[in-house]
Amino acid sequence: MRFSKKTVLVTGGAGGIGSDCVKKFAAEGAKVAIVDRSGDIARALAAEINAAGGTARAFVCDVTDNAQVEACVADVKAAFGGVDILVNVAGGSAREHRAFFYEQDVEIFRKNIEVNLFAAFYFARSCAPLMIEKGWGRIINIASIIGFNGHVKHAEYSAAKGGIIAITKSMAKEVGRYGITANTVCPGIIPTSNSNGGKGHGDLSHTNYLAMTPAPCDIANAVLYLASEEARFVTGMDLIVDGGRRLATRGTES
Ligand SMILES: NC(=O)c1ccc[n+]([C@@H]2O[C@H](COP(=O)([O-])OP(=O)(O)OC[C@H]3O[C@@H](n4cnc5c(N)ncnc54)[C@H](O)[C@@H]3O)[C@@H](O)[C@H]2O)c1
Repeated sequence: MRFSKKTVLVTGGAGGIGSDCVKKFAAEGAKVAIVDRSGDIARALAAEINAAGGTARAFVCDVTDNAQVEACVADVKAAFGGVDILVNVAGGSAREHRAFFYEQDVEIFRKNIEVNLFAAFYFARSCAPLMIEKGWGRIINIASIIGFNGHVKHAEYSAAKGGIIAITKSMAKEVGRYGITANTVCPGIIPTSNSNGGKGHGDLSHTNYLAMTPAPCDIANAVLYLASEEARFVTGMDLIVDGGRRLATRGTES
């Protein structure tokens, strides 16, 4: 029960990776705020956790709207007394609108940056003062190996995730003196609704890529480590969880 005295806010908490983080934090004693625009799924997940003896509550919010984010963080503070651990998971690639950068629609580009980068900034700026007040905190941002490598027809997503990787280091430098760490977890392809069921792996059998199917729990385990006391001296870092994909890639693969 590593998190029995902690409140965790997980954005995108109703999604594939987010819901696994929510369940694992709840199982280890945390009070969990499930933040998502999918209210029905978030409420059902909260009910499931509460029925099993945990503590969770759904908060419906469009994470790209700063006014909603500020109201949401205030609601979480009123319900649970603060936010100790912030996990920015909401986001994803512009799945239905993939295009070469020189053909991409400007509005699609802007919206994708908003959900993947601005939203994490909005939540971090609203939650950091609560952590500073307590002299302890964790900011964990979900990036992607595409934020390092780029990827064909993913210009907006690579820009946003590269931005998350960079802003997390600035956050770490600014809040370290208050006992707050800021890190990213950078997944490879994890089977969720957002990743085409993980079918994008291609043939990597000639490489040393780990011969196993990854799952959202592989990302959640990394998130819980960074949130834990075991990681108290780890900040400004990028924890790549990709089974070796980044080492194995060549050509245009991410
Ligand atoms: N699945 C992968 O292969 C993979 C790889 C690298 C990085 N990631 C990152 O992991 C994170 C989670 O991905 P996932 O695969 O679990 O996706 P998912 O689609 O299963 O979950 C995303 C969640 O975010 C929520 N969301 C999206 N836009 C929102 C908004 N404007 N306001 C509120 N909620 C919103 C959705 O409702 C959903 O519940 C994303 O940031 C994604 O970029 C995923």
